Amino acid sequence: MGMKKNIKIILNIILNRFGFQTIPMYELKYINEKHQEAVNEYVCYLRETIFKDIKEDLQRNKLLTKLYGTTVGEAMYIIDCLNKTSDITGEVCEFGVANGSTSVLIANEIKSTNKKLWLYDSFQGLSKPTKEDVLINDIFNLGAMVNYESTMSYPDSYVRSKLTSINFPKRRTRIITGFIDKTIYLSLPKKVAFAYIDFDLYEPTMITLDRLDRVLSKGSFVVVDDYDYFSSGVKIAVDKFVKKHRKYKLIMPKKFAGKFCILHKFK
Ligand SMILES: C[S@@+](CC[C@H](N)C(=O)[O-])C[C@H]1O[C@@H](n2cnc3c(N)ncnc32)[C@H](O)[C@@H]1O
Repeated sequence: MGMKKNIKIILNIILNRFGFQTIPMYELKYINEKHQEAVNEYVCYLRETIFKDIKEDLQRNKLLTKLYGTTVGEAMYIIDCLNKTSDITGEVCEFGVANGSTSVLIANEIKSTNKKLWLYDSFQGLSKPTKEDVLINDIFNLGAMVNYESTMSYPDSYVRSKLTSINFPKRRTRIITGFIDKTIYLSLPKKVAFAYIDFDLYEPTMITLDRLDRVLSKGSFVVVDDYDYFSSGVKIAVDKFVKKHRKYKLIMPKKFAGKFCILHKFK
């Protein structure tokens, strides 16, 4: 047995102890290519069956393989809403950005328009859960909702570099850093055509919906992630909002796409 092979075996034994393993570069490349192929196939199927107005975009397919919390199905609904609002007055916002995986997907969709992308995040992770936030899905196995405060924290440089990687113009990007209960009162577009809310918790979702109502254009769409998933708070906030404001239609996606809902402002 050659020296190289022995080193590899020893290295693997050590790495395995820590839950890692080595993988040759050519195999990693092959796995990544297979993953991309599977996503391409799935997206093609979704475009042929449900999202018939969405045109093929290979750059988009690459971004779809790198999503964080959003499923490919949910991403297709987001893209569909962006298409439907492309001629409506107003900017595009994402509330709860994390490492920017969905932000870059949204940016790619609106790149050829004049719309600005407004991104809101504390960049210090989740805010403090409130009594409305009962843990439904313990996604990180932390045992209790209180333990989720400050999780999902990423530096804003991750988001900036992702937007740069697709050459999304800096002059059309607004990154608003801080907890939403402060920032939303300081900085919000005059008109919004599409918003993606992904704060995971009751209070920031409620604050955002209430404030957004004033600036959402007629015909706009809002996708709210984690409706009846992770924390009970998001569903409570959305249901309260829809009951109070009668000009929104609550649309539920097909089950395969995941746990989120869509609000359509029809008047
Ligand atoms: C689930 S992650 C967002 C994932 C992202 N939308 C995506 O698709 O990749 C939730 C984000 O919301 C942010 N966040 C939670 N509560 C917040 C609050 N009250 N104010 C500002 N940001 C908050 C967290 O920092 C975290 O980055």
